[in-house]
Amino acid sequence: MARIVIRNLGKSFESSDFSRSLLALIHDQDIDWMHACGGKGRCTTCKAIVLEGESMLTEYTTAESRYQKQGLLRPGERLACQVKIKGDVVIEVPDTSKFPHMTYLP
Ligand code: FES
Repeated sequence: MARIVIRNLGKSFESSDFSRSLLALIHDQDIDWMHACGGKGRCTTCKAIVLEGESMLTEYTTAESRYQKQGLLRPGERLACQVKIKGDVVIEVPDTSKFPHMTYLP
């Protein structure tokens, strides 16, 4: 069982599903998370900033590596639709992917 904390949403949940993307796990909780390309690795709107537990995430995918080379994914940033969890993580939503209808903590 792993705990996923979304710091600036003030939300957390547990999951033992290590086979699906972080985005899918977040959506399972009815938490809105931007995903403009539908989770196909063709945008960066599902970006998550990893505050703790980077080693508890799967390796960078081809899509993530491409965006890293283009400077669109900085160290500590992952695409929620690409990455899967292996243990506890603390993440937050970057300013560029915040929804106007949701309340974020500072
Ligand atoms: S939703 Fe577009 S890259 Fe993840």
